[in-house]
Amino acid sequence: MFDVEKIREEFPILGREVYGRPLVYLDSGATAQKPRCVIDCIDRLHREQNANIHRGVHHLSAEATTMYEAARERIRAFIGAREREEVVFTSGATASINLVAYSWGEMALRAGDNIVVSEMEHHSNIVPWQIVAGRKGAEIRVLPFDDAGRLRTELLPSLIDSRTRMVAVTQASNTLGTRPDLRPIIDAAHAAGALVMVDGCQGVVHGGVNVAELGCDFYAFSGHKLYGPTGIGVLCGRREIMEAMPPFMGGGDMVDKVTFARTTYAPLPLKFEAGTSNFIGAIALGEAVRFLEGLDMEAVERHEHELLVRAERALSAIDGVTIYGRTDNKCSIVSFNVDGVHNYDLGMILDKMGIAVRTGHHCAEPVMSHYGIAGMCRASLAMYNTAAEVDALEAGVRRAVRMLR
Ligand code: ALA
Repeated sequence: MFDVEKIREEFPILGREVYGRPLVYLDSGATAQKPRCVIDCIDRLHREQNANIHRGVHHLSAEATTMYEAARERIRAFIGAREREEVVFTSGATASINLVAYSWGEMALRAGDNIVVSEMEHHSNIVPWQIVAGRKGAEIRVLPFDDAGRLRTELLPSLIDSRTRMVAVTQASNTLGTRPDLRPIIDAAHAAGALVMVDGCQGVVHGGVNVAELGCDFYAFSGHKLYGPTGIGVLCGRREIMEAMPPFMGGGDMVDKVTFARTTYAPLPLKFEAGTSNFIGAIALGEAVRFLEGLDMEAVERHEHELLVRAERALSAIDGVTIYGRTDNKCSIVSFNVDGVHNYDLGMILDKMGIAVRTGHHCAEPVMSHYGIAGMCRASLAMYNTAAEVDALEAGVRRAVRMLR
């Protein structure tokens, strides 16, 4: 039995008030709240185990190193990666995608090549490709979505050709909630000899992933959306490709031998972990994963889906509401606007009622351009949200609309 009240007890922040009202936190797509075990883990590490990893012969360093590598192994198993060498710690999904765009792009892209990017991507899976394409004289091609928020994969044959080197696509859209069917996209890319970068930021949270089964070449996600800390993320990449890629950043820990004549590099994954890694963040992300492993994730998914259905039904019943993203199999994100009401004003009034939603373009301006709008309100629902909170959102929107109209 999924017991949301029991889950909520694990998240201390959910007990707080804002403006004298109970916090209704509906912005987990931006960052998720942290369970007590993650907060305690960070505290304990600083109090008892802080020492730099991979560097010291002393006891504390060895302890921290063991915990860091154990976190890598836990995360490897959680995302279904084949080998620990394929799991690189970064500062977040943005750093992961930039790493590939710079390092792989430097190695593999030539003038006249192209990169296919879906129209529903977050800026972090668009801009790094634009930068490298600009540098190398490559073209960016866009895989569009329809008004319901479905990726138009039937257009792939006209977009992917023998000069396509990379296809960049999300596992779950942070604005539309769409979970595209990645199979035909990955198959079409691979048939043309192209690689696939999957942005797993929302997808890894809602439904999880098995990267080996999925068969993508790169997979990126951030720790802070997965109930872990900020400043830590993962790049999972196919070993043979990452072995061929040049280092992205140089520095300590990523080298084998350094002389002024010649430097050789450490094997994977350290080749891509220059400098002191955020080892506290990595270990705490491992703790977040341990927390998730203790839950029935199918029950979590069912709970989030029930909240999504409730929210969509409630908001649709309000006069003048448009919901963006109407595909089956959505993750628990509902983005909407109300006729005649600015999304920012709506968000501000909801805030005064203690309800936190995200407003604006959600770092996905092409999605806004698709609908010809400047922004949306977004409620992103997590395992700790309740039906009563969804009802509070509905009541809040109704009240705000009465005030603003
Ligand atoms: N990418 C985060 C979001 O969707 C910040 O809100």
